[in-house]
Amino acid sequence: MSTDSLLQPAPESIERRPVSVASRVLMGGPVVLATSSWRGRANIMPLAWHMPVSSEPALIAIALEQSRYSVDVLDHSEEFALNIPKRALLHHVQYLGSLSGEHIDKFEATQLGHFAASRVTAPLIEGCAAWIEAGVRHQIPFGDHVIYVAEVVAVHVDPASFSDRWLSNAGDDRPLVFLGGRFYSSLDREQEARMPRDLEAPERVLAERLEEELELTTEARERREELLGHLTDEVAKGNVVDVAELGTELDIDEVDRLDLTAGTMLGDPED
Ligand SMILES: Cc1cc2nc3c(=O)[nH]c(=O)nc-3n(C[C@H](O)[C@H](O)[C@H](O)COP(=O)(O)O)c2cc1C
Repeated sequence: MSTDSLLQPAPESIERRPVSVASRVLMGGPVVLATSSWRGRANIMPLAWHMPVSSEPALIAIALEQSRYSVDVLDHSEEFALNIPKRALLHHVQYLGSLSGEHIDKFEATQLGHFAASRVTAPLIEGCAAWIEAGVRHQIPFGDHVIYVAEVVAVHVDPASFSDRWLSNAGDDRPLVFLGGRFYSSLDREQEARMPRDLEAPERVLAERLEEELELTTEARERREELLGHLTDEVAKGNVVDVAELGTELDIDEVDRLDLTAGTMLGDPED
């Protein structure tokens, strides 16, 4: 679409909000507990404003309001750890955000279990799903916040929570997602996006898939994901899968996505 084409007016159903709402609209990643330590005194601060900024080297950025005690600590220590709490630490996270380490030892106040990090002096917190250790490379003030860009020096994960990605079906081992205020959520179902194939007209295929997603009830979608999961397991075990029986439940694309190894005969029970 060219930018000079006549654009439609915005739909009446959408609402305009103040610019401050942008940060909350962008929320949805895991909330972290940033730990730091200086001269033997450790601190914890819940933090939602974080992002990856480079893959090679691995750099991440965190934004801290300038008034935070953690800013003083980071300016001296130049390193920190991000601890990604599991669901059960929900109330700890909120409470820790109501205190300043300037006045109180938050480890003592919460009695949170902790252990030594591998590369930084900041302690790592028990009950978390993953931990990132990082060394500050740049410190840049923006508005009322300071952004620290830091190089990741070590990452640890609990495999019950994270494989090569977050496990959305990991129950209590899932990370906490911060929505703003006192509200949190957890990862829900995982969904895999299907790409149009090379020879397909992408706009037609995408329009059909959009319609299909909008029409599918949650129940039907969950049944389909469950069936796909079961089939993937069966195929991984080398068991025979009868594709003829699947036709009504799954479309051919989904069956194609299964990694069918030699020895698995579709629609052909072992004969
Ligand atoms: C879930 C949650 C997320 C938060 N995210 C941030 C953030 O990204 N940046 C920030 O400066 N403060 C954030 N805060 C507020 C600080 O955690 C809070 O002010 C804390 O008491 C600061 O601790 P400190 O003074 O010991 O450093 C958050 C608070 C909560 C509860």
